[in-house]
Amino acid sequence: MVNKITVVGAGNVGATTAQRLAEKELARTVVMVDVMEGIPQGKALDQWQSAPIEGFDTRVIGTNGYEETRDSEIIVITAGIARKPGMSRDDLLNTNAGIVKQVSQHIKATSPNAILIVVSNPLDVMSYVAMKVTGFPRERVLGMAGVLDTARYRAFIAEALDVSVRDIQAMVLGGHGDTMVPLISYTSVSGIPITQLIPQAKLDAIVERTRSGGAEIVKHLKTGSAYYAPSSAAVQMCEAIVLDQNRILPCAAWLEGEYGMSGLFLGVPCKLGRRGLESIIEVELTRGERDALAKSADAVREPMGAVKL
Ligand code: NAI
Ligand code: 2OP
Repeated sequence: MVNKITVVGAGNVGATTAQRLAEKELARTVVMVDVMEGIPQGKALDQWQSAPIEGFDTRVIGTNGYEETRDSEIIVITAGIARKPGMSRDDLLNTNAGIVKQVSQHIKATSPNAILIVVSNPLDVMSYVAMKVTGFPRERVLGMAGVLDTARYRAFIAEALDVSVRDIQAMVLGGHGDTMVPLISYTSVSGIPITQLIPQAKLDAIVERTRSGGAEIVKHLKTGSAYYAPSSAAVQMCEAIVLDQNRILPCAAWLEGEYGMSGLFLGVPCKLGRRGLESIIEVELTRGERDALAKSADAVREPMGAVKL
């Protein structure tokens, strides 16, 4: 366990993340920060009161300032507005860029050694904003998207085959948007290539459903976006770091030549350990996957160029 993990934003994703972190006892203290007066305090108190029942000793506290977050080892940034029906992630661009910029300035002043896990959308661009404003090295700024997108893909495959989700190995790369790249060539069920188990047309439909997995939930909820699976994904990344697991997880990382690209955050296989991003794993891709990844990178570069810092 580490001493302190902060979650910025005590909304749906932030509060669920804090609860999951506490239940797993990944830190002595979990701090939730939000601009809404009373919300982080109330939710933190409620969560802390679940501790005797759930059996965890992690203290959860809520605040509207950054003093209590000082010297956090990990900070999960979920502050921002969420998608409403009909809104794309990029519609959120400038509002959330302003919010992430302000949050990042506070983090730089109070937790200069923290590892950041960015969740706010549009994810790949907000990760860039956080890295640019804090000036942190790329090892300490990661975006959460690939773990979530891969979980959706794995869930749909498990459903189609009526097998355990545990046995589905897969990886979704690229930007967190409609151009994400589920890697069929690296999808298997207990080592059996997925193409031997699911016909191509059905696989294509699963890939499409994965790409619009977030929008499907927004359509149901109407007033917000997904948060149970997103918080699980953010916490899996925290766990890999806190426990120095060296897990290979798809995360948005700042590319410096990997996959032939530089100067942008993109979802790639990352080794996560106690220092944050330990390394980026470069895997062979089919021609189609390479093209799809390049197209996804273009879709990230465009809003990145438009963001006002
Ligand atoms: P939410 O609306 O429930 O919560 C957002 C919270 O941020 C609110 O409580 C709000 O008061 C707070 N906030 C706004 N400005 C702030 C500031 N300057 N400092 C601190 N807190 C501030 O939204 P939800 O559902 O929790 O989503 C949060 C963000 O995460 C959204 O941008 C959403 O699109 C994104 N998201 C990203 C996912 C991913 O895969 N990367 C998955 C799910 C959500
Ligand atoms: C999701 O994929 C909205 O990005 C969020 O659910």
